[in-house]
Amino acid sequence: MLQDIDRILFSREQIAARVHQLASEIAATFTDTTSGVTLVTILSGSIIFLADLIRNLPIRMKIGLVTVSSYKGATTTGTTPRLLKDLDLDIRGDHVLLIDDILDTGRTLRLVQNELQALQPASIHTGVLLRKSTAPADIHVDFVGFDVEDVFVVGYGLDYNDHYRNYPHIGVLRRELYQPQPDAAS
Ligand code: IMP
Ligand code: MG
Repeated sequence: MLQDIDRILFSREQIAARVHQLASEIAATFTDTTSGVTLVTILSGSIIFLADLIRNLPIRMKIGLVTVSSYKGATTTGTTPRLLKDLDLDIRGDHVLLIDDILDTGRTLRLVQNELQALQPASIHTGVLLRKSTAPADIHVDFVGFDVEDVFVVGYGLDYNDHYRNYPHIGVLRRELYQPQPDAAS
């Protein structure tokens, strides 16, 4: 695993410090909601982020999970995402915080934001651990862990073809692993 990582972008210590700050920003936003907040998390990339974030958030909360199809194994532009697992939670009238790992093209967040809106929550805020520089400006996020350049990252829950989620830092995957180099002979 380690030999597949080109460089560390954010160490586990840097991530922990930023998640702690982010939790403070989030807690400050939801102080007025006596009913608490409903965190809706997009699986599977957000699992470690969610686990760390909620343990820094001493507010009343419920947690719901959704799964969105994604063909991002290859780092192509991807296809239109679909909801594979619905939210098994009633969020009508709730203050929702939607959590995802990475904002890239914004298609995933846009899909889930629309799905949630239809369930009539009181409000929807959105938080992502990473936002790529290529993300469209019209997609609204309230909380961002780190802004990153357009590189393929793994670790801290983020995967490439379902691997590397257990790598404790956020690292850049070696380019030749996700973008096969052209065969010199051809
Ligand atoms: P979007 O719909 O293009 O914004 O893609 C968002 C999803 O693609 C994220 O939730 C990730 O699961 C995945 N993704 C995008 N970029 C990366 C990356 O660099 N590493 C791992 N997963 C990524
Ligand atoms: Mg994802």
